[in-house]
Amino acid sequence: MKIAIIGGGNMGITYAKAFVRSSIVQKDSLLIIEKHAEKRTELLNEGIGLVTDTIDDSLLKFNIIISAVKPQDFKVMADKLKRHMHEDQLLISIMAGITIATIQQLLGHKKVVRAMPNTPAQLGFGISAFTVSSEVSFEEISKVDTLLETTGKSIFMKDEALINAVTALSGSGPAYFYYIVKHMIEAGKQMGVEEPVAAMLIKQTMLGAFQLMNNSNLSLDEMITMVASKGGTTEAALNSFEQREVGIHIIEALMAAEYRAKELSNG
Ligand SMILES: NC(=O)c1ccc[n+]([C@@H]2O[C@H](COP(=O)([O-])OP(=O)(O)OC[C@H]3O[C@@H](n4cnc5c(N)ncnc54)[C@H](OP(=O)(O)O)[C@@H]3O)[C@@H](O)[C@H]2O)c1
Repeated sequence: MKIAIIGGGNMGITYAKAFVRSSIVQKDSLLIIEKHAEKRTELLNEGIGLVTDTIDDSLLKFNIIISAVKPQDFKVMADKLKRHMHEDQLLISIMAGITIATIQQLLGHKKVVRAMPNTPAQLGFGISAFTVSSEVSFEEISKVDTLLETTGKSIFMKDEALINAVTALSGSGPAYFYYIVKHMIEAGKQMGVEEPVAAMLIKQTMLGAFQLMNNSNLSLDEMITMVASKGGTTEAALNSFEQREVGIHIIEALMAAEYRAKELSNG
């Protein structure tokens, strides 16, 4: 398999490293196209794969082309790329908010995969949901699934409209988690606990709670009840959440993210 990644930023590099680490592609069959000179030097020094700044006919020999540029850079990039593709190639986009129809139109290319990854992909703990144009075969869907799984888990979604929900849930999800952790650490500081100690307490609690949740047959409500005894400390905090309707606010916040994803998709 020969893979070209356009955009050697955070996500592009994450993918490049995951492909090489999993041996799904050899270093000399992986090309990263990056316009930023400093990033190209970094990539060359890291020796992840071949590196260039040019979109040209050499792309024709790659089976898969991944677009990992920012959504706002895609139009300019597509203008160049469309002259150097052939119809059998698979174009995988990881760009937020750009629909398959727009990609097909701007590239004049039919076989398009739209994937939404997240940053824990850097450590192989990511999750990517993906959807495909009708011209992508079952065999190609399976190949994409294998590729994306080098960065964590992968889910195929038939309905492209749900990619907006995926963006709001797992694409942006890591940031919500950091926001909650940040405020729990802040609470610790206000109680007089030194920041590094508070950070250690909260991070290990999050990790432990996640492991417990992932290895338990109990529902989330049952797991909450396990921690919260009647009239106790946890119940005091949970009552405060309920009085302030924190749960409803969380749902509303994620709805706002989904709404923004829809707005971006509609141009
Ligand atoms: N970060 C996330 O959590 C996340 C999650 C899901 C999806 N995504 C998607 O992943 C994509 C990449 O995000 P990112 O965070 O990796 O962005 P990034 O770090 O800015 O990387 C994009 C890279 O592409 C380069 N570039 C732009 N136009 C180019 C062109 N025509 N040819 C070659 N290189 C070009 C940029 O160079 P310059 O800096 O010089 O412009 C930059 O180095 C975005 O579309 C985003 O929506 C990101």
